[in-house]
Amino acid sequence: MASLIKTYNFGPGNPDPGVFPSHDLGEAARRALSRMGTILAQYPEQRGLPELRGVAQARFERNHHVRPPLENIVITNGAMQGLQLSAMGLARPGDSVVLEEFEYVGTIRVFKQCGLELVPVAIDDEGMRMDDLESVLERQVASGRKPAFIYTTASYQNPTGTSQPVERRRRLLELARRYQITIVEDDTYADISFEPPRVPAIYSLAQPGEVVYIGSFSKILGPGVRLGFFIADESTIARMMPWKMDGGTSMLSQLVAAEYFKDHLWDHIEEGRQAVKDKRNTLLDALEAEFGSVPGMSWTRPEGGLFLWVKLPPEVDRVRLQQLATEAGIVYSTGQAFQAENKDVAFLRLAFGWIEREEIAEGIRALAQCVRAAMATPVPS
Ligand SMILES: Cc1ncc(COP(=O)(O)O)c(C=O)c1O
Repeated sequence: MASLIKTYNFGPGNPDPGVFPSHDLGEAARRALSRMGTILAQYPEQRGLPELRGVAQARFERNHHVRPPLENIVITNGAMQGLQLSAMGLARPGDSVVLEEFEYVGTIRVFKQCGLELVPVAIDDEGMRMDDLESVLERQVASGRKPAFIYTTASYQNPTGTSQPVERRRRLLELARRYQITIVEDDTYADISFEPPRVPAIYSLAQPGEVVYIGSFSKILGPGVRLGFFIADESTIARMMPWKMDGGTSMLSQLVAAEYFKDHLWDHIEEGRQAVKDKRNTLLDALEAEFGSVPGMSWTRPEGGLFLWVKLPPEVDRVRLQQLATEAGIVYSTGQAFQAENKDVAFLRLAFGWIEREEIAEGIRALAQCVRAAMATPVPS
C-alpha cells in the first residue's frame, strides 16, 4: 500500500528529474547503435570514446577558456572512479591526504577504504581556508607525513555549497607547489552554475602535472549513466590507469551520451541549470521566511551545485529533530555524515535538485515546526 505520509525529499544529490531527456536519449541511442553498434562487440578503448572525451574537452574549454589535450582526458565510471583511481594511483595505504573538513560521503568512503588517513582543513563561507591549509601542511611535513595529495571541491562544494574565490585557488596552488604535492580537484558540479562570472578551475591556473581534474556527467545528465572523466598529464595518467581494472567504461553508455550531446549539450545544460536555480531561489526564500528570525540559525547561499548547508542553533536536539523529521516525511542529510572524522556537528545538508519545486516551501515549513519542537525538548547534559 502506498504511504499516506507526504514526503519532502531534500536527501539525494541528483539533478532535476523533470529535465531528464528520455525521448531524445532514446533517439540518440537508436541512431548511435544503427551507425556504430558493432563497436560493442569489442572491449572499450582504454581512455574512452574519443567523441565523449571531446565533449568533456568542450565543456572544460567553454567553462575555463583552456583547451586540455584530448589524449589527457580519460572517461571513467562516474567521477567516483576518478576518486578511486586518484587514491590508488597517487597514494599508498597508510598515506595521509588533506581535504575539506566537511566532505562528500563517497570521497570519505573511497579514501578510507583505500587505507588513507584523512587530514581535515577548516572551511568557511569561501570554502577551504588557506591559513589552516598552510598550518596543516607545515605540521604534516614537519612530522614526516607529507600528504600524498590535497583533495578539494573548489566549486559548489558538497555538502556546503561553498566556492573558493580565485585568490584562494591561486594560494592553494602556491602551497601545493611549495611542498610538491599534487592537487586532486573534484569539479563534479562544474556546469550547475547560477551566478556569473565563473571562477576558473584550479586545473586551468596550474602547470601540467600539478592537478588531476575530475569531472562527471552525472549532474548534467543522470548518475544512472555512470559516466565521468579525469584530466591529467601523461605521467599522472600512467600512475592511475593500472588501477582501472574494469575492462573499460561501458561503451553503450558512452556511445549514447556522445550522440545525444552532439546536438543537445549546451541547451540541456542550460535547461537543467535553470531548473535547479529556480529551486535554489525557492529554497532560499523559504528558509528566510521560516528561519530568518531564529537566533543561531544560518545557511550558505550556493552560487551553483545542488546543496545548501544549514547551521542549527546549539539548543536543537539533533536526534529528536531527526525523529520528528522522519515522522513528518522530511528527508535531509545530517552534518555528521560529511564530517571527515565522523564527529557529530550542528549542521544539516539540504539538496534541492531532486525535490519538486512546488514542495520546497511546504517542506521547509514542516521542517521549521520540527526544529521548534526539537528546541523545546530539553537537551540532555
Ligand atoms: C563531490 C562529488 N564527487 C563525486 C561524486 C560522484 O559522482 P559520480 O556520479 O559522477 O560518480 C559526487 C556525487 O554526488 C560528488 O558530490
